Amino acid sequence: MTKALTGVRILDFTHVQSGPTCTQLLAWFGADVIKVERPGVGDITRGQLQDKPNVDSLYFTMLNHNKRSITLDTKNPKGKEVLTALIKTCDVLVENFGPGVLDRMGFPWEKIQSINPKMIVASIKGFGPGPYEDCKVYENVAQCTGGAASTTGFRDGLPLVTGAQIGDSGTGLNLALGIVTALYQRTVTGKGQKVTASMQDGVLNLARVKLRDQQRLAHGPLREYSQFGEGIPFGDAVPRAGNDSGGGQPGRILKCKGWETDPNAYIYFITQAAVWEKICDIIGEPTWKTHPDYAKPAARLPRLNEIFARIEQWTMTKTKFEAMDILNKDDIPCGPILSMKELIEDQSLRATGTVVEVDHPTRGKYFSVGNPIKMSDSPSEVTRSPLLGEHTDEILRQVLGFSDHQVAEIHDSGALDPPRKQAAE
Ligand code: COA
Repeated sequence: MTKALTGVRILDFTHVQSGPTCTQLLAWFGADVIKVERPGVGDITRGQLQDKPNVDSLYFTMLNHNKRSITLDTKNPKGKEVLTALIKTCDVLVENFGPGVLDRMGFPWEKIQSINPKMIVASIKGFGPGPYEDCKVYENVAQCTGGAASTTGFRDGLPLVTGAQIGDSGTGLNLALGIVTALYQRTVTGKGQKVTASMQDGVLNLARVKLRDQQRLAHGPLREYSQFGEGIPFGDAVPRAGNDSGGGQPGRILKCKGWETDPNAYIYFITQAAVWEKICDIIGEPTWKTHPDYAKPAARLPRLNEIFARIEQWTMTKTKFEAMDILNKDDIPCGPILSMKELIEDQSLRATGTVVEVDHPTRGKYFSVGNPIKMSDSPSEVTRSPLLGEHTDEILRQVLGFSDHQVAEIHDSGALDPPRKQAAE
């Protein structure tokens, strides 16, 4: 079966997490992704957070499935010739180098365009144009500068970063959408274009409800925030709101049976207005259905602490899964706090390919996260990440059409292999 992006060839200059997330998605949709790596070194994540000696880390393998790897020193003259040939034959170049790296390598946008006017050049940077455009950025910097950290955590605690990699993987998703959109526009214009996604922009985009609340603050307190019910005045910036729901339906994380010993025995409980009467029946407060202090959403807002404390008395008598079963029968929105251990063992996630088991020649079997986007005519099969330079000769011969003699010449130039010093180490 052909895939959605069959026939699209990606020159993948990405490293670490943000860029590799993007090109991995494109590979899952069927694109031929050729990952260019520095000879002898490769993507730095191959050697980071290693759980087994001398094998590619889970960090690397989980971000680079379904790709091919070529090693190439792009600062070597012969390496530049190979890179030029790759630019001629690929549809998209994706990179998340530090600012200015591609220019310093001798391949600014104008040069790439002159080599292949149809090429789409897609980049992730930490910041867009402005005072910080030259800064290098990692995940948590993006969370802090994009508004997520200032609005995450509890009011009386430090700003917090979240474990979800919204700056890296989130921006990778944005870039992937930009690339397929540019590919679509190219079918009309015949031209390539630059696609850029900044991590700060990506995080702010995901934190938009807090920018909404910033503007609401000018017109009075944020009544759905716990601090309103606690009588604590608001300052001039959106405060951290703990586990308060970010939407119009108040919600909290509540203890469930076993919380004293299990750090994940909790459930997220939403008091959606439409099911309020059912909630009252379940928790044993039927009079709240008609009582003026509780019957209507606006009356409940100053009493959320008291209301959730009462609901928690009920959730503490159930495990998070028992509570989920009971509440779902009445369409009450809720969700157990699932640990990574529970998620990796979840058979339904395995069945849909969201959690996949992959075999790797040097590491053996491991679990990974499959494509979160499911398409009926373009199913994703997750194949292992490439070893460093595993496909170098294959790409030179099959993709670029180089002869045995040319391939030997390129090897002799040192463009494909580590410098002697590194090789000896
Ligand atoms: N051949 C020769 N040189 C190569 C090469 C290759 N195949 N691939 C990379 N290099 C060189 C680059 O040319 C560059 O050299 P230069 O600085 O002399 O021009 C060098 O490797 C380092 O590139 P850089 O991207 O700056 O890496 P870094 O390790 O110093 O910084 C980041 C890492 C992630 C901070 C930085 O790349 C960055 O800010 N990226 C954009 C934002 C981003 O994606 N961040 C999230 C990452 S998850």
